[in-house]
Amino acid sequence: MLVNLQTIIGMAEKGGFCVPAFNVYNMESVIGVLHAAEEARAPVIMQVYPRLMKEETGYFLSPVILAAAARATVPVCFHLDHGPSELETTRSLCYGATGIMLDGSTLPFEENIALTKRVADTCRYLDVQVEGELGHVGTTKDDTMDEFTTPEDAKRFVEETGVCCLAVAVGTAHGRYKKPPKLDIERIKAIRAATGGAALVLHGGSGVPDEEIKKAVAEGIRKMNFATDLCYSFLDTCKEVVNDPQRPVAIDTFMKKPIEAVKSFCISKIKLVGADGRAD
Ligand code: 13P
Repeated sequence: MLVNLQTIIGMAEKGGFCVPAFNVYNMESVIGVLHAAEEARAPVIMQVYPRLMKEETGYFLSPVILAAAARATVPVCFHLDHGPSELETTRSLCYGATGIMLDGSTLPFEENIALTKRVADTCRYLDVQVEGELGHVGTTKDDTMDEFTTPEDAKRFVEETGVCCLAVAVGTAHGRYKKPPKLDIERIKAIRAATGGAALVLHGGSGVPDEEIKKAVAEGIRKMNFATDLCYSFLDTCKEVVNDPQRPVAIDTFMKKPIEAVKSFCISKIKLVGADGRAD
């Protein structure tokens, strides 16, 4: 069933686990995530990068996500990932998104607060709540990590914006890591304490060692994003199928193995963050 962001984050908070958020790009990745969530009986978030919402992909992909959520017997949230401005957040709401991220993390602190609050206030009219970001989570191509989120700033940000969950910079980055990251677990703990238990979000989940993820979840990470490794699971399997002399030509048959690969990848992450069996 389709649920909003606050419902699915509320489930994670109540149960003391983390909801995995998988970036989806096409119908096949949506089906892979759906099958994984059903088999593992897990609540999941299907999220979409804003560039897809700007292009025609969003127009076609959104109904596919909504159809998957309507068919699902587990809670599914349709979320905009890294919305940079009100243009993308408004369009995503029109397309039926039930969760919105407003990423003002590259703005000066006061501007990030003001923009995030404005979007959170608007979304609330539609019963949709917002994920904010404080302390910029960059990419693995960046040479240096930006400043980590401080507990004091996080407290002010959460109080003044009214976000439902907060993405924090504690050692992760988007993409494939050159060497496995080490997370600042003490900082996660301190941010949780300073914010009175705000639900925290970890971006850049691909390639983070399992033990680090488990520790982060134990300290209050309630949503964790996976994109790059989901893409590789799909694309590497496409390559295998292409190289098979018996490969099917019909596209739907060709796609069966890549869909299976996405499903297996998602099941492994659902279990890792403790979301399996939490749907019921
Ligand atoms: P990865 O691509 O590193 O898994 O990060 C995904 C993410 O955080 C999406 O916002």
